[in-house]
Amino acid sequence: MPSPMTSMTPSSRLIALLKGRGHVLVLTGAGVSRESGIATFRDAGGLWEGVDPMQLATPRAFAADPERVWRFYDARRTHAASAQPNPAHRAIAALEATGRPFLLATQNVDGLHERAGSKELVRLHGSLWRLRCTGCGDEHEDLQPKLEPLPPHCDACGAMLRPAVVWFEEPLPMIEFGRAQSAAREAELVLVVGTSSVVYPAASLQMAALEAGAYVVEINPEATSFSTHASEHLAGPAGVVLPALVAAAWPG
Ligand code: OAD
Repeated sequence: MPSPMTSMTPSSRLIALLKGRGHVLVLTGAGVSRESGIATFRDAGGLWEGVDPMQLATPRAFAADPERVWRFYDARRTHAASAQPNPAHRAIAALEATGRPFLLATQNVDGLHERAGSKELVRLHGSLWRLRCTGCGDEHEDLQPKLEPLPPHCDACGAMLRPAVVWFEEPLPMIEFGRAQSAAREAELVLVVGTSSVVYPAASLQMAALEAGAYVVEINPEATSFSTHASEHLAGPAGVVLPALVAAAWPG
């Protein structure tokens, strides 16, 4: 397997693809929100450091101790509510605003892409800001940063509410994942930003896009399990690399 080009400087091929009219798919993970002060999962100091995700992010963990799981998600809601979108989120929204065929598929649940203005977006792992009833299945938006008391209960049927996120051992939302898979087949250019590419099936999208012939660019300060497959790797923080790409493709 040849190594990808690893650089801080985008290739002329990438700039030409950005300026073109072909389909673009952007895949994001926790790293895109790092510069907004939100911890990733697997980096040093990340959310899974010293923590077993199976004890916090599975249906079994929730059944065993809903209050503990809710405290984890409530703290993440509180933190995300006070965070602001960063230049990476804004550059992705600016790329969409050029009006070409575009989709953003994010594994993030923090809502920062939406707040930066992204519209054509699928949330592969759900949202911190939506709650689902474990009894009647009702799902609704709830933007309060602090929920009290924990765990919250459904106004309609009284059963316990859960965060409408995707936990380990649960399937991805079918319609959203289907849209992302179609975009991976159609895209000419794919940007893979701030993800370790280890969690499946989300991480299958970049491989599917490569197999379908897309030019797949990874933007990440570190090498990942996908780096050797990528067409090009831009080694830097998303909040620096993405605005520089937008400025290089559309100067002034
Ligand atoms: P990870 O924590 O696994 O990976 C974050 C990636 O972001 C790493 O590769 C970092 O090198 C990179 N990174 C850090 N700072 C960055 C920056 N400023 N700019 C760009 N990249 C940066 O997070 P995800 O890949 O998103 O799922 O994790 C995937 C899923 O695993 C999450 O959705 C979550 C987690 O368990 C569930 O909870 C089900």
